[in-house]
Amino acid sequence: MCGIVGAVAERDVSKILMEGLRRLEYRGYDSAGLAVLEGNGLHRLRVAGKVNDLADSLKQSPLKGTTGIAHTRWATHGKPSVENAHPHICKDQIAIVHNGIIENYESLKQAQIANGHAFQSETDTEVVVNQIYDSFSDTGNLLEAVFAATDKLDGAYALGIISPSEPGRLIAARRGSPLVIGIGIGEHFIASDVLALLSVTQKFIFLADGDIADITCDGVVIYDENRKVVKRPVSISELSHDVAGKSGYRHYMLKEIFEQPRAVHDTLAGAFNNGRIDETVFGQKAGKLFDRVKAIKIVACGTSYHAGLVARYWAESIANIPCDVEIASEFRYRKSVVHPDTLFVTISQSGETADTLAALQLARHSGFAASLAICNVPESSLTRESDLVFLTRAGAEIGVASTKAFTTQLVALLMLVTVLGRRLGMTSETEAAIVGQLQQLPGRINSALELDGKINLLSKQFINKHHALYLGRGLLLPIAMEGALKLKEISYIHAEAYAAGELKHGPLALVDEDMPVFAVVANNELLEKIKSNLQEVKARGGRLYVLTDTGVQLEKDDDIQVLKVAHVEDSIAPIVFTVPLQLIAYHIAVFKGADVDQPRNLAKSVTVE
Ligand code: G6P
Repeated sequence: MCGIVGAVAERDVSKILMEGLRRLEYRGYDSAGLAVLEGNGLHRLRVAGKVNDLADSLKQSPLKGTTGIAHTRWATHGKPSVENAHPHICKDQIAIVHNGIIENYESLKQAQIANGHAFQSETDTEVVVNQIYDSFSDTGNLLEAVFAATDKLDGAYALGIISPSEPGRLIAARRGSPLVIGIGIGEHFIASDVLALLSVTQKFIFLADGDIADITCDGVVIYDENRKVVKRPVSISELSHDVAGKSGYRHYMLKEIFEQPRAVHDTLAGAFNNGRIDETVFGQKAGKLFDRVKAIKIVACGTSYHAGLVARYWAESIANIPCDVEIASEFRYRKSVVHPDTLFVTISQSGETADTLAALQLARHSGFAASLAICNVPESSLTRESDLVFLTRAGAEIGVASTKAFTTQLVALLMLVTVLGRRLGMTSETEAAIVGQLQQLPGRINSALELDGKINLLSKQFINKHHALYLGRGLLLPIAMEGALKLKEISYIHAEAYAAGELKHGPLALVDEDMPVFAVVANNELLEKIKSNLQEVKARGGRLYVLTDTGVQLEKDDDIQVLKVAHVEDSIAPIVFTVPLQLIAYHIAVFKGADVDQPRNLAKSVTVE
């Protein structure tokens, strides 16, 4: 999703802006641009392409300046093109970059056309730069102009604003979309996330919703939504400056798949006390708030939603607690009935997903017992607005398709249902067994990773496939869904997941020798049921690929290819079986020559609706 970088310094900032854009590439985008102030001159370069294309253009026409803004755009209003790329400029006086969507742009546009503005792009952003220009003409002060203009905007925005009339000043504004300020020595920066600025600072201020910041080399003054000066805390990022490196792997996604044993280990660090889960990992107030909880409502999007679906099986089978899971964009626009003893749980790797955030904001006024965010980004909007927070410690995830964030979310959810289950009659033996299995988990994931070579060989068979079916039952149905999502996200092969028992109610009609069918089969009470489903596929000539564990015996059959992970206990099976499915999607996408880390049309952090 759109990425913003800005800087004000005594040195040339163009290199800082370009490095920031490179570090934001993982978010997904389709065009890029930057603008700098040099003396009283405003200079801009934009491309409908990648940051490398912008770098090439910069070589042709170098830009230098001590104040600047830059942007990667993910098209919402208007196609990816040079005209629609940011920064947008009004009459060589105001330049802005914007992330978010201005909902009242059509009415503002009509009013501005009536006032004599000519529009250069199809974007909603252009009304913002015009509005600031008009206010600047009235007030003669950039900060006052931003105050006045933002009062007229409905919707979400993170903005970086500069003007050649006020060189050395960068104004930042935030409502709904994320924006951080980086604190340097005699120089300051803004960006959509901390990763963009790690090469220049480790010190950050996270702007609150409604904040506007007046940034110069000398300092940062922040105004809250009532235009009162406020102090926001400075945080020191623990992320290292080369966090965005690939450590020798060909893609970030592969690196992140292989980091999962470490990510799970770190997520579990400090979570156990005398063989039990220490519930303060969910926050100091967790014990008191959890005492009230009799049901769970989980809301999330994409891969995080799949984590929620696994949690429902765990909650009701292990912890005896009712659990409902819903896609955030649905929940936020429907009337739902809330039982007051329900814990509202959001799951998000980024903590900035617009739909999930809006769902949380709605839930906070809907009578839930408390809200808990399971999130991979400290200081994200979601963590700041929730009563309780569990921080997964996957580390920065750069590949757009989520991998290690998902498995660590599952770890958090298994711990959550366990501490809630305790209050509802779960025995200490069950808890001890879960704790033991969680402690084994990094090792189990390591053995699943050993399938990488075999999966690589197998994946060649799918280069010319256009469709695939994924089957699972019980706890492994959401894992089949996640496997199908991974495949479509990065290889562009159409893939659907079905509950294996539903096969006969429709998808069986699609099965023939051209349709690969992946089945995820656990060694549990559903084994014989899913074996019958496999026969249904075989009888129609379908090509079967079965992912299972060494405890499962399948008759030798040339039409079935089997991949086996080492024995895995039922409760952690969803986490372990995820790993080979990630590798299958990865290798197929690589064979197809797809852009694995930045799949077309997708974004890592979806900060607009
Ligand atoms: C985007 C990402 C997905 C992610 C989804 C939800 O679509 O590409 O990988 O699962 O957003 O994101 P969240 O940050 O809320 O988990």
